[in-house]
Amino acid sequence: MTKISVKPYNDFCPQTLFIYGTNNEDGTPDFGLFCWFSYYWDSEMGVMCAIGGSKTTRENIEREKIFSANLVTEELLPLADYLGCTSGRSDEKMKIGMDIGKGSVLDVPVLNLSPVTYELEVKDFIPQKDGVVMLCRMRNVLQDEKLLSKDKTDTEKLIDIAPVRTTCKRYFGYKGEDLGAWGEPMKALSRD
Ligand SMILES: Cc1cc2nc3c(=O)[nH]c(=O)nc-3n(C[C@H](O)[C@H](O)[C@H](O)COP(=O)(O)O)c2cc1C
Repeated sequence: MTKISVKPYNDFCPQTLFIYGTNNEDGTPDFGLFCWFSYYWDSEMGVMCAIGGSKTTRENIEREKIFSANLVTEELLPLADYLGCTSGRSDEKMKIGMDIGKGSVLDVPVLNLSPVTYELEVKDFIPQKDGVVMLCRMRNVLQDEKLLSKDKTDTEKLIDIAPVRTTCKRYFGYKGEDLGAWGEPMKALSRD
């Protein structure tokens, strides 16, 4: 292999996608799409994540210090893509059919169709020049009960739920299938 130096970026390093659910100041929910999300250890497993620039999700989290992170599956991809390509500042954003529930431990909006939802409380905000890094405590994990069944292997369960990954500004299926460029899957969404 011959390696060459390229501009700092994260192409060819796929990331798992999550839809964050937050409460607006008036109590209505807002959802946005995020991929700068990973884990750290400090006596228990925590979540570390980053938000760049100013956006509704960030304002809501900075005010309430709580949010949900809902795993994006192929079934959820058109909605997820829409939530990632539409600003929460648009009054129209949330006028879309979504199956929304509440967290079990925290007062956060969650997506009922996501098989894994974290209820997160921010322990530390680490502000940067433009964005913010957040260290969060997992207050609860809501998981589809089928993921706990002994009837299937973990490999089969992962294939069933089909989490989506992203890199190179495209979406990929769990087995690597191309699911389109950012902004494409949302075209399949019917707005009613
Ligand atoms: C595939 C994808 C991944 C994204 N990941 C992030 C991320 O990790 N951090 C971030 O600040 N914005 C990310 N965004 C942008 C936000 O989803 C976008 O700003 C959205 O409008 C946020 O929703 P809000 O305006 O309701 O807060 C991503 C967008 C896409 C399409």
